[in-house]
Amino acid sequence: MSKKRKKRKLKLGRILLLCIIIIVIGLGIYFVIPKNYGYKKDVVKVFKEENIIDIIRQNKKYSKVLEEAILNNSFNKEYLLDYLNINYIEEDNYIDNINKLLVLGYNSNDINTFYEKLPNSINIIIDNEYDKDIVNYLNLSYFKEDYLDRYIKYGYTIKDLKSPYDVTNIINNFTYEDNVTYVNANLDKDYYTDDINISNEDAMKLDILVNKYHKLDSKFEPSDLEKIDSKFASGNNQRMRKEAKDHFEEMCADALKDGYKMYAGSTYRSYDYQLGLYNRYVAKDGFNAAETYSARAGYSEHQLGLAVDILNHSWDYISEDNPEYTWLINNSYKYGFILRYPRGKEYITGYMFEDWHFRYLGIELANKVRESNLTYDEYVARGL
Ligand code: DAL
Ligand code: ZN
Repeated sequence: MSKKRKKRKLKLGRILLLCIIIIVIGLGIYFVIPKNYGYKKDVVKVFKEENIIDIIRQNKKYSKVLEEAILNNSFNKEYLLDYLNINYIEEDNYIDNINKLLVLGYNSNDINTFYEKLPNSINIIIDNEYDKDIVNYLNLSYFKEDYLDRYIKYGYTIKDLKSPYDVTNIINNFTYEDNVTYVNANLDKDYYTDDINISNEDAMKLDILVNKYHKLDSKFEPSDLEKIDSKFASGNNQRMRKEAKDHFEEMCADALKDGYKMYAGSTYRSYDYQLGLYNRYVAKDGFNAAETYSARAGYSEHQLGLAVDILNHSWDYISEDNPEYTWLINNSYKYGFILRYPRGKEYITGYMFEDWHFRYLGIELANKVRESNLTYDEYVARGL
């Protein structure tokens, strides 16, 4: 080997050695010297004073929320792990709000979700009591951000729910889905306190909801009322809207083939008729009782021409122990009718269990409502 080549080899060897030394020292520094992950010096000082530096180093990442909390003098050691996991957002009062949410009981996941999905409702959450279900509400297709305040308040007052009906089951089996559904249905407001007025045009839709929150115009009368065949009616002036009438007659005819006689006992009722009826019930049974089974004028589905109170073979209103009732429960939806005021749902529908009152919705919708196992009020409240 020439002298020149030998020299070059020696030089390369030295460079290689130097590189190895540098790498070893670098790694040494990296692993041995504690890292501060980008926190400002003053902040690191506080970590040391607060004895949390080990936790910060174990966590191996920079948190702007934690740094800001410390710089703002609003750091609360109890929530250290939450600060580390909350995503920072540039906003006035951000750290103050985070602290308020943490004190209320929300964790870092909740808080990140609130800022991501409800950035305009943070104050509503802060101004209320802790609600463990907000994130669950959010995931429901029928959640309405505008109602958030009402959902939260309704949730924490449900145990004291006051109602003319037995609400033990409602309270005991209350779910977050119910919470959102019932508020959407306005059940957090007293009946008749905040009317939604139904236009005469909407009143002609087969799926229109009428209840103690949804009111018809006193002048509304459906334009296609027709008399029910007297074979299936009490008296010769029972009227329903054409489609409902046709399906009712078909249903009665098929029931008869199965051996069950049934008749329309009360069908379309005008506003004025309902007014007189309600007043007579109040005079007879008293206000509180009448409210449980009679709609005030304007609030009755009978005014739609889509409701029918059904009589059994002996011309009495159907009751649940009649075979006609069982037949109707098993078949009425096939003709577009649903039992409108079921047992156990009195608080939701606003009426006692009415085994005789059926509502026409059209076959497709009646099938869907039946499948949902919900009252029609809940079904509508879920936007289904
Ligand atoms: N009985 C029902 C609720 C009505 O009066 O419309
Ligand atoms: Zn009725």
